[in-house]
Amino acid sequence: MTVIEAIDLTKRFGGPSAPPVLDAINLSIQAGEVFGYLGPNGAGKTTTIRVLLGLLNPTRGTVRVFGEVPGERDAARARLGVLLENSGLDDRMTAFQSLDYHARLYGVSNRTRRIERLLGFVGLADQRDLKVGTFSTGMKRKLGLARAIVHDPELLFLDEPSAGLDPEAQRMVRELLQELARTRNITVFINSHHLDEVQRLCSRIAILHRGRIRACDSVDALRRGAGGDRIEVRFSDAGQAARGAQALRALGRLPEVTVEGDRLATSVDGMTAPEIVATLVGEGLGIEEVVRPVKSLEDVYFEIMREEEAA
Ligand SMILES: Nc1ncnc2c1ncn2[C@@H]1O[C@H](COP(=O)(O)OP(=O)(O)O)[C@@H](O)[C@H]1O
Ligand SMILES: [Mg+2]
Repeated sequence: MTVIEAIDLTKRFGGPSAPPVLDAINLSIQAGEVFGYLGPNGAGKTTTIRVLLGLLNPTRGTVRVFGEVPGERDAARARLGVLLENSGLDDRMTAFQSLDYHARLYGVSNRTRRIERLLGFVGLADQRDLKVGTFSTGMKRKLGLARAIVHDPELLFLDEPSAGLDPEAQRMVRELLQELARTRNITVFINSHHLDEVQRLCSRIAILHRGRIRACDSVDALRRGAGGDRIEVRFSDAGQAARGAQALRALGRLPEVTVEGDRLATSVDGMTAPEIVATLVGEGLGIEEVVRPVKSLEDVYFEIMREEEAA
């Protein structure tokens, strides 16, 4: 089931001559996906969430959440949980009261039990009756997360959930989100410029740059796709590597085979990796190691950013 859909979503602030903040965005996010929306500051991530929540209207194009135009029906609102950058918590309320207030709005049953369980889940059980005003940024974020899920939403929007947190608090928030995605069939849309977080949490990501989606795929596919799929083979000595390269070149199916000392490298293009290895084994060569180097998401991200800046 498609939970979030954007078709040609374009947003400008100001007149038609203003540059678009979102430029022909297309998205299709399925139930159960943990979708990462990645991009530098000012790329348009928060604006996208605001449009998906119905807080802003698109200038052009359409968006649908649960098949409906956002903001048109309250029924759809109850299916969403939201944690925006500014948590919007009331400093004068206690942790319990903050969650209880929200739970009442949504008509949650068994409130006290549910809230106490949630406070335990986010590690704030002991702070149940302390005022939010005394909380650190990390504690507020955890409470904001508890509040976002108190009514058991099917879709969760998170805007930079780990921004401004120290590494330990970042890890706790990430683990909470992992636990949430694992234990409930919840769809999550995460805005982030935190590559490591996205890589660990998300099944699929889009990379946004100046309002346009520059890449959208699973983390693995993005990492494999960038710069091509490579294979490296290390032999027992340089002579074996040279013979291996000769054997592969003789087939004429690979675009290029390079040798450096006892290593041979080529892109997996024209032959599969098993075919390449089988050819080398068939030559009776002494293979020490076969490596399929994979770029980190960070490498891919900066490659895309560099290409865009150069364009
Ligand atoms: N209400 C607004 N009026 C004018 N410009 C805005 C408004 N909201 C956001 N912008 C601009 O849109 C761009 C994208 O902002 P935003 O969506 O907040 O980016 P991100 O969340 O990726 O950092 C920025 O250049 C920002 O200044
Ligand atoms: Mg933002």
